Amino acid sequence: MKPLTITSRLEVYESIDEISHDIQDLMKKAVEVRENAYAPYSRFKVGAAILLENGEVVVGSNQENASYPSGLCAERTAVYAAGAQHPNIRILKIAITARSLKHKVVSPVPPCGACRQALAEYEVKQEEPIELYFMGETGKVVKAESIKDLLPLAFDNSCL
Ligand code: THU
Repeated sequence: MKPLTITSRLEVYESIDEISHDIQDLMKKAVEVRENAYAPYSRFKVGAAILLENGEVVVGSNQENASYPSGLCAERTAVYAAGAQHPNIRILKIAITARSLKHKVVSPVPPCGACRQALAEYEVKQEEPIELYFMGETGKVVKAESIKDLLPLAFDNSCL
């Protein structure tokens, strides 16, 4: 037996004010698009803003469906839009924020497992990491340098 130790390094900022202005701007776009979420079932609104290498920002919000599994998270809505509209432009960063219509979301909301898998695919595709920033409605912001920090031992094309 040989143990395999996995380490991830995340940075935690006390508030959005501690983060650089370019990330604050990206997060503001995620906050804006969060309102476009169609979330009548969960009443949980998520916004994601992706910064591309050419300076363009592609956004997404969660879109729910009466047939629950047919809905899609904000992060995948955004990353698939980026892939569909700008297939050859590198994704630099993604900012994610969530709020609930039921309570105040004060803790950072990380991307779900399926969104981590989808984001990991684009890191593999572009052979460069994607920086992630996620927060709730207010409070701490978490930064990951790469989706690999949130999804170690990812299943990717090297497994096929
Ligand atoms: N949701 C996201 O948009 N992103 C995530 O990473 C987690 C969950 C959405 C899906 C659903 O519309 C609502 O939040 C509640 O799960």
